[in-house]
Amino acid sequence: MCGIIGYIGNQNKKETIINGLRELEYRGYDSAGMAILQNDDLKVFRAVGKLTNLESTIINAKLHDEVFCGYGLAIGHTRWATHGSPTEINAHPHIGTQSALVHNGIIENYKELKQELESQGVVFSSQTDTEVIVHLFESYAKNYTAQEAFSKTIQRLIGSYAILLITKLEPNKIFYAKQHSPLMIGVCSKQHDEHKGGAIFFASSDAALIGLVDKVVYLQDGNCGEIDMYGFQNLHNIQPFYANKISAQKEGYRFFMEKEIYEQESILLETMMGRVSEDGIILDELDSDFFERFRSIAICACGTSHHSALVGKYLIERKARVRVTTHIASEFRYAKPVLEKDELFIAISQSGETADTLQALKLAKDEGLITLAICNVDNSAMVRLADYSLLTRAGIEKGVASTKAFATQVMVLWIFSVLLGIKRKRINEIGIKSEIKAMLNAQKATKVQAQIHDKIKRLSRRYLHGHGFFFIGRDIFYPLALEGALKLKEISYLHAEGYPSGEMKHGPIALADSELFTLALMPKNLLYNKNKSNVEEIIARDSTICAITPLDFDLADDVVKIPNYQSYMEEFFAMMVILQLLALEIAVRLNRDVDMPRNLAKSVTVE
Ligand code: F6R
Repeated sequence: MCGIIGYIGNQNKKETIINGLRELEYRGYDSAGMAILQNDDLKVFRAVGKLTNLESTIINAKLHDEVFCGYGLAIGHTRWATHGSPTEINAHPHIGTQSALVHNGIIENYKELKQELESQGVVFSSQTDTEVIVHLFESYAKNYTAQEAFSKTIQRLIGSYAILLITKLEPNKIFYAKQHSPLMIGVCSKQHDEHKGGAIFFASSDAALIGLVDKVVYLQDGNCGEIDMYGFQNLHNIQPFYANKISAQKEGYRFFMEKEIYEQESILLETMMGRVSEDGIILDELDSDFFERFRSIAICACGTSHHSALVGKYLIERKARVRVTTHIASEFRYAKPVLEKDELFIAISQSGETADTLQALKLAKDEGLITLAICNVDNSAMVRLADYSLLTRAGIEKGVASTKAFATQVMVLWIFSVLLGIKRKRINEIGIKSEIKAMLNAQKATKVQAQIHDKIKRLSRRYLHGHGFFFIGRDIFYPLALEGALKLKEISYLHAEGYPSGEMKHGPIALADSELFTLALMPKNLLYNKNKSNVEEIIARDSTICAITPLDFDLADDVVKIPNYQSYMEEFFAMMVILQLLALEIAVRLNRDVDMPRNLAKSVTVE
């Protein structure tokens, strides 16, 4: 989704902004732009498509390098179209007569504001909701100082926003405002002298500031102000920023997604560190009375995170015997959900910023429910909002198609379910020992074996055509089937659906023929025979079957064998890796943009 960069300093502003935007590319965008204010000259560049188009636009303007070097301000933006199609005119920055502005989020009352400004004679050039902000500011600036005008403008906005504005009226300052959309300010203290200055950076995500700053302020909802080169020390809640650049690179893998699949083995160790050991299971973040405070659980999430919620339901109900309902966040909000006061509300999110999930969490909190965020990003909106949070510790996930974030979410939910089972006296000592053993082994089961990856590379060429894919499984392998289908859809653009194996005969089997590919998840340790019968029903209809299983299964057209594990959770994690690799290799053969699939955004901060 949209990305924002801001900069005050002496570096080449074109390069600084482009480099920053490049770090945010993984979030998805369809146009980009930047504005530079230097020596009382405001220059704006915008282009549809990738950042290279923006660079060409700037080159074609044939400007001297001095325009970009020396002290000045700059703001940049990658836009993922919501209001108005992805055209140059709708790209940010939006401009008035002497100001330029970038915005993430949605201004819900933009139509009223637009009418008001039009009645004053303001002419709009774009179809966006954003353009009203810059005109409103300039309208107020006729009668007020720039500071007052900005503050009055922000007070009029309803919706979500992260905003940066630069204006000739205050050529040394960037104006900023944040509401329900992430925004941070950073500084490199080594190069920054309180009196002589150095450089100030703004970004909508950590990724763009890695290696550039060592101190940051995560702006809070309602924060609004302006800052010049010397203003950083006056901000509140300055925090150290430790992230390093190496972790954000591909490290020799072809794609971030591939690197992230391979990383899962080590990442899961991080997730378990201090939580799972031979001695027992602990979640330090949850105090001792937490587990007594609820009778049932509602889990809410979107997309891949919703699939882990479904896994969580099976695990919690089985291991702790606590009733769990799961909800798709975008449906939950407006469905007038019945929420019980003694219910625990869990929001699951990789980013912690997904608008639908965030609003659902707010709703639950307003209703007085105890809330828990299972999230990958510390300091994200959800982590800040929830009463409790469990970080999944996946590290930065750059591939738009989520892999390691899903693995860590499932692991955290598994740990949580076992701990809840222990607290509710549903798991005895022997049970605890066997869960711990399974967890430690499941982490190892995500190690990518070279021969399996090679096999999947070869196999992928047989699965490029046909009229669709079914991914089927039972129990926790049903949400895994949903996730496998989603991965394939997202990065290969092939049609794929996940189904519970036993549900096929109730309708979907009508589609079965030799041009329909079925990926059958057939674990040995959970309902193998039930599953096998369902798969045989599909084989009888001539569907092409690829079985993923530790057992011999001659009826299948292809078999990807996993080792002979002792628990279904080990089988789950091993199969997860196979499905991720299969989606990856099919997408590679189809020459798709694996890390940045079309139409998708990494962090969906609009409804
Ligand atoms: C799919 C994917 C999305 C996200 C969904 C929720 O690969 O990544 O389906 O899972 O947009 O995002 P988060 O988890 O950040 O709330």
